[in-house]
Amino acid sequence: MEPSGVRYHDELDCYVVWGLEPARAAMADPALTSDTFQPMNLSYLPEVVRDECPDLVALVERWFIFRDGADHQTARKAVRPLFSPRNIRDLAPEVATIVEDVLDEAMRSTEFDFVTEVADKVAARAIALILGFESASQESLQRWGLALSKFLGASYRPDFAMEAQVAIVELSEFVRSAESAPGGLLSLASGEREDRVATAAMMVFGGLQTTVGLLGFACKYMMESDVSPSTVGERSALIERTLSHWAPLGHVARMADRATSIASTAIPEGSAVLIALDGTDVLDRPGMLTWDPELPSGGPGPLEDKALHLAFGYGVHRCIGAPLARLVGDEVVRQLVEKAPGARVVSATPKANRTYRGFSELVVRIPG
Ligand code: HEM
Repeated sequence: MEPSGVRYHDELDCYVVWGLEPARAAMADPALTSDTFQPMNLSYLPEVVRDECPDLVALVERWFIFRDGADHQTARKAVRPLFSPRNIRDLAPEVATIVEDVLDEAMRSTEFDFVTEVADKVAARAIALILGFESASQESLQRWGLALSKFLGASYRPDFAMEAQVAIVELSEFVRSAESAPGGLLSLASGEREDRVATAAMMVFGGLQTTVGLLGFACKYMMESDVSPSTVGERSALIERTLSHWAPLGHVARMADRATSIASTAIPEGSAVLIALDGTDVLDRPGMLTWDPELPSGGPGPLEDKALHLAFGYGVHRCIGAPLARLVGDEVVRQLVEKAPGARVVSATPKANRTYRGFSELVVRIPG
């Protein structure tokens, strides 16, 4: 496969862009809109199912990740303070406590599933903390995040849409009950009540599956390359390498509002475009169902330039939650090294979802 390129794929009737420069150009191209929910999700859902999911349709349509221009900027700017360097620094001790509680509990057994016993719990609690949603149960947050990611990853599936509709109704009810609490996301998010509920749902969905994916990839990579990062720089290198080789979100989608061209390939108006975040042609991968331990062999090298990967996207829609994901990743790696030296991966089952990637099970054994 070429290291970068743009290709039209007949099977999916869309263009695929991969490699650092073409992908960046595509994500910065104003002709490629993020307003993709209707053409790339809703249009695949049978009308009768759509009618049965009114809350899902109405709320996801309001997500600012699917908007462009001033509308997007206003909504994004309103919630940015949650992820400011200062807020993230202030949250660090509480995140450390969450990781400690969860790891101590998991390590009561010498063998445990890192995904369900550690990554799911840490991600849900850290996201609840930053959003001010600590009164939501971890189980509910996980269920909502999973239902929404299954629906957005395969919108043609009526069963996924129905599950996501139930999740959105529960989430709206939760937001209604949490609205009067001071601080957190709901006091910052802009727009009408519906917009705030929509932003809450988008954050839970956007942050959970991706952070769980990152934690699983980082854990497996660290244990299999037999390294014990001990400084902030070494841990950061491990996390950035993990992100660059196993992007938890495989690609982002755009629609061509008007004709444009990427890396000298003409993209006609009305085309769907998938932009790979891991440097490979989305439709030509051996499949995210495989794990290639050969990729970044030898453990983490010197601190890598964060700008050298696209796992958090690029341009105006770049991930707003990246500082939280990095903090959580750093803390989990730090405590794993400290509490479980010599831990090994016993078995790994990659997730079937090729958009939100990671492991459905990652069994880890702690030496006795
Ligand atoms: C390893 C973890 C994560 C990965 C790999 C990731 C990846 C991404 C990517 C690639 C985008 C760009 C989407 C696009 O261009 O269409 C994005 C946007 C976004 N992410 Fe993340 N994300 C992660 C964690 C989080 C967390 C923890 C949160 C919040 C709690 C979050 C909230 C968001 C939001 C709100 C956007 C939309 C930004 C906008 O449209 O302006 N993400 N994320």
